[in-house]
Amino acid sequence: MEKGVTMEITDRREFLKKAGVLGLGLLATGGIAGIAASCGKAEQAIQPIATVTAPPVTVTATPAAAAALPWPYKKLDAVAAAEAAYAGYSAGGCMYGAFEGIMSQLRATVGSPYDTIPTAFSKYGGGGISGWGTICGALNGIAAALYFPFAQSVANPIINEVYGWYGVTLLPDYTPAKPKFATCKQSVADSQLCHQSVTKWCLASGFKTTSAERGDRCAWLTAAVVKKTVDLMNLQADGAFKATFAVPASVTGCLSCHGKGGALENVHITNQTDCKECHTPLPSSHPPVK
Ligand code: HEC
Ligand code: HEC
Repeated sequence: MEKGVTMEITDRREFLKKAGVLGLGLLATGGIAGIAASCGKAEQAIQPIATVTAPPVTVTATPAAAAALPWPYKKLDAVAAAEAAYAGYSAGGCMYGAFEGIMSQLRATVGSPYDTIPTAFSKYGGGGISGWGTICGALNGIAAALYFPFAQSVANPIINEVYGWYGVTLLPDYTPAKPKFATCKQSVADSQLCHQSVTKWCLASGFKTTSAERGDRCAWLTAAVVKKTVDLMNLQADGAFKATFAVPASVTGCLSCHGKGGALENVHITNQTDCKECHTPLPSSHPPVK
């Protein structure tokens, strides 16, 4: 019987409902006791409070041996950066391709201290961070790169612009000089996450995620993201960057109740291209949404 119940459970909410309904009967079988204990409150109740004597800590934005940020910026060749990103993808994945794509041009154009960054660290971001399908590595890479030449207040609006564009645009929109495959299907990710971005493309193109074509698509996409970013960095250097991405009304509508100052304030998101990607349909008990 326990096995049958487990098979029927389709998501956490359903699971908790069923666990609630079936209550102690199920718990007594021991089968779900471990899972129940791992749910929020149950876990808090059984955690012993540890007493530790921690040494005093010091945090610093700039260790003594490092040059303080932001570092100098000179306008870069966006196509050269995109080509380096395409090549970098094969050498170390999407985040490395994006990060090294920009850093290689900063080294070539500005020089020191950009030549002190071991860009290989950015390989961690491949496949949405070590294959976890979270943030697209190309997006992770350009965000990291932007924080070197620009202060946070300058970098964040450019990040928002690139991330917003990425969510709503048919991509890739840049064709590498010598691509592995001559063409690449375009798709809209509706998301900044590796998983949605890749799978939407697979649905649009008919290729498998493990195909060489999919790998090449992510290389094209890495190049496209870097091209877009460097174009915006150059506009910023000219004092001509203007943010155009606005969080869509469908999202600000959700956040009017679920975001800061809303009646619920339970969603820790300020920028997003689409909530309904993951929240359709809303339960029938949900208040009406425009
Ligand atoms: C008018 C205010 C309001 C707006 C706008 C709103 N919500 Fe909600 N939302 C609520 C309230 C109140 C609840 C709690 C309802 C309940 O407990 O039955 C809720 C619950 C939810 C839940 C949990 C539902 C469940 O029980 O599984 C999700 C998910 C959710 N909202 C997503 C959204 C999304 C996505 C949007 C935008 C498309 C949105 N909400 C817009 C007020 C709002
Ligand atoms: C990538 C998928 C994804 C996106 C995008 C997303 N959510 Fe969620 N959201 C989830 C998941 C998964 C949960 C946890 C679901 C659960 O516990 O039922 C959740 C939980 C919630 C809840 C709490 C539901 C509850 O249990 O009461 C609300 C409210 C919510 N999201 C609103 C939003 C809003 C508003 C946006 C857009 C700003 C958004 N979400 C974007 C996946 C997403």
